[in-house]
Amino acid sequence: MAAKRPVVIGIAGGSCSGKTSVTNAIYDVFRDHSVVVIEQDFYYKDQSHLTFEERLGTNYDHPLAFDNDLLIEHIKKLLLRQPINKPVYDYVQHTRAQEVIHVEPVDVIILEGILVLEDADLRDLMDIKLFVDTDSDIRIIRRIMRDIKERGRTTDSVIEQYLTAVRPMHNLFIEPTKRYADIIIPEGGDNEVAIDLMVTKIKTILETDNVL
Ligand code: CTP
Repeated sequence: MAAKRPVVIGIAGGSCSGKTSVTNAIYDVFRDHSVVVIEQDFYYKDQSHLTFEERLGTNYDHPLAFDNDLLIEHIKKLLLRQPINKPVYDYVQHTRAQEVIHVEPVDVIILEGILVLEDADLRDLMDIKLFVDTDSDIRIIRRIMRDIKERGRTTDSVIEQYLTAVRPMHNLFIEPTKRYADIIIPEGGDNEVAIDLMVTKIKTILETDNVL
């Protein structure tokens, strides 16, 4: 019997909008199936050839910061049910980590990141596109708390980065991708109705004859 084509779900949205909680909610439902999360963040370009000071100058909210060629190559491989070695990203050192994560072929691929809906080639690989929509005041509060606790930052550096890169890039590149979304989810993972709708749709796709 021919192998089934995996389902690809793209989850976009501003920084700290709640993409991870939507991702986790969907992941939990398909845990017994086979599901993998691909974080676009892990595909930031390798910057190991730059000094730490130089890496601080990178605009991490611009589409060009990402190695989308590698990301697309990996999604295409997973769609052909081939394994990949997913890179790992180090937010403290601002570059790719030494290790990789081996990912076996799966039925459900969740692709999550601020700019996953920005690249047309990436969008073309998705069966369902989501945009998590959360007010910017909530997002900056979450970001200050998270970046200090988990990413080794200071309050001043988070605010400076927010004003010079995160906010302008959000308005320029992230917010406009809402138009590509099949569903816009307000406030992320707490939205049970939206999550249930998503899960039903994914199950329907998995049950249909979507062979390779
Ligand atoms: N970023 C950074 N330093 C780096 C690399 C990335 O500060 N070296 C920041 C970018 O500025 C970008 C953010 O990481 O805005 C992207 O991660 P984000 O979307 O905030 O993380 P998630 O956990 O995926 O978001 P959510 O809270 O929506 O789940």
